[in-house]
Amino acid sequence: MICKLTLAGGLLALLAGCGPKPDRPAATDSLPPSPPQATADTSTPPPATSPAKPDSVPVAARPRPTPKPPVVTKPKPTTPAEPAPPTTTAAAPAPDPYHPAPRDTLDVDTYQGWKQFELNCSRCHGEYAVGSSFAPALVVSLKDGGTIPTKELFITTVCAGRLDKGMPSWCALGLEMSKIEQIYSYIKGRADGKIAAGRPAQRE
Ligand code: HEC
Repeated sequence: MICKLTLAGGLLALLAGCGPKPDRPAATDSLPPSPPQATADTSTPPPATSPAKPDSVPVAARPRPTPKPPVVTKPKPTTPAEPAPPTTTAAAPAPDPYHPAPRDTLDVDTYQGWKQFELNCSRCHGEYAVGSSFAPALVVSLKDGGTIPTKELFITTVCAGRLDKGMPSWCALGLEMSKIEQIYSYIKGRADGKIAAGRPAQRE
C-alpha cells in the first residue's frame, strides 16, 4: 500500500523493501529525482521552526552557555557523543563478565539439565557442579570410580537426599523425575569432560 502512495516513489519504495515491484523498473532512475524532492521538503520545515526562534531563545540558551539559538537542539547531543563511542565499540567487543559467551552447544534435555541444576543445586554444589565448601563437587562424584558412578545411584541419592547431612530429598520437594534425569545428563557430561564449566548454548 505505502509503495504506491509515496511521492518519492523509488527511494521510499526501496527503503520499504518494495524495490522489486514492476512499477519502478530502474533503481538508478529513481535516485536522481529524489534529491530535488528532499530539498523541497527541507524548505518546508524552516517555517515550522521559525516560530520557535524568537522567544524560545532563553530556554534553548540555558543548557548551552554558547549563544546558538536556532538549530541548537539537534547538533548538541550528536557532536559530543560521536567522537568517543566509535573507537571503543568498533575496536574491541568489550567483554561482559555478566553475560559470558556460551561454551558448549547442548541438546535440549542437557541444556534444561543445566538450567535445573543452576536453579536447584548450584547454591550448595557450586555453579557448573564444581562444588562448594558446603557440598561436594558433583563433577567429581559422577566420574568413573567416583562416589556416584551410575545413573541409578544418582537418581536414588537425589530423590531420597541425605537429610542428616544437609542434602534435601528432591522427590519430597516435588522435583520431577524428568528434570532429575536432565540434571544427570548435564552433570555426567561435565564429569566426563564433554561439557566445560560456563554457560552452555542450546542446540535446536
Ligand atoms: C541445601 C544444599 C543442597 C542442595 C540445594 C543440593 N544438595 Fe546435593 N548434597 C548436599 C550435601 C551437603 C551433600 C553431601 C552429603 C554427604 O556428605 O553425604 C550432597 C550430596 C549430593 C550427592 C551425592 C554426592 C556424593 O558424592 O556422594 C548428589 C548426587 C547430590 N547431592 C545431588 C544434588 C542435586 C542433583 C541437587 C539439585 C537438584 C542437589 N544435590 C541440591 C547439599 C545440597
